[in-house]
Amino acid sequence: MTRATTRAYAPGRVNLIGDHTDYTGGLVLPMAIDMGTTVTYEPGPTWSFTTDAAGVEPGWERYVDAVAAELHAEPGAIAVTTTLPVGAGLSSSAALEVAAALALGFDGPALELAQRCQRAEQAASGVPCGIMDQLAAAAGVEGQALLIDCTDLTVTPIPVPDDAEVIVAHSGQARALAGSAYAERRRDCEAAASQIGPLSDATADDVARITDPRIRARARHVVSENQRVRDFAAALQAHDLPMAGQLLTASHVSLRDDFEVSTDALNHLVGKLAFAAGFHGARLTGAGFGGCAVALADKGAAIPPGLTAWRVRASSGARRG
Ligand code: GLA
Repeated sequence: MTRATTRAYAPGRVNLIGDHTDYTGGLVLPMAIDMGTTVTYEPGPTWSFTTDAAGVEPGWERYVDAVAAELHAEPGAIAVTTTLPVGAGLSSSAALEVAAALALGFDGPALELAQRCQRAEQAASGVPCGIMDQLAAAAGVEGQALLIDCTDLTVTPIPVPDDAEVIVAHSGQARALAGSAYAERRRDCEAAASQIGPLSDATADDVARITDPRIRARARHVVSENQRVRDFAAALQAHDLPMAGQLLTASHVSLRDDFEVSTDALNHLVGKLAFAAGFHGARLTGAGFGGCAVALADKGAAIPPGLTAWRVRASSGARRG
């Protein structure tokens, strides 16, 4: 009897703007990138896991186990390869989950794929993450960033201008997302929403009514970040790269000062990128606490020397085969 082997690929993502907004029902603007993870699955009597990639997410079997449990998949041999840098904040775990789900036979809409993989991520990591990473990996569109409204989960593709380049650079500092800081930020946002209602509908005046200074600052980040996502999408559509770049840098300042998820290494990196010739702006991307920064530059702009950086292209989402 021949056993059917299935193979699937899912991309990583970079978030252009809109961080720590997804789990409050806010706006995010990620894009799937041209680096990702391939999972091969061959049904068999027991589970076995192999990888030839030194870089696969630490404890990666846990993520595949969680996806298999979510899908009630039959055991088999799983093999993983990846072109993504791990622990960089480019969602290598989401790419792994989404590729694994397709290899294990998931067959349905991108949103359901993302929701089931988000549940698997939460189970495997213990971090109460939002939907952004898995939805970007599942729903990516060639040449387009994805404007996602995390209240109604609609995805609107926004073209990335041809004369722009998206550059991702590593701070050299591994992310420490699994720590309690992410969950603490989420709790702060829930505390804010319990006072002023859903942050996705709140105004600056609502935020000003919050008495606790820390909770007020968290809410100020979320409410201002949602507006920056709208403005950034409009700037991309208007081909206004200087305006888009300014919004990136303003987002970084808000994540640094109001949301307190930046680090010295990220601040230093963002400073270097934002002021480089041909660059319009930069910010930390993803959860923060280390990992990568993203920058918007003119096509062909020279990357400042000494950085570990990648020029990334907006790419299509996950696929079987
Ligand atoms: C991580 C989570 C996402 C999102 C970002 C911050 O990547 O997995 O859901 O909350 O952090 O924007």
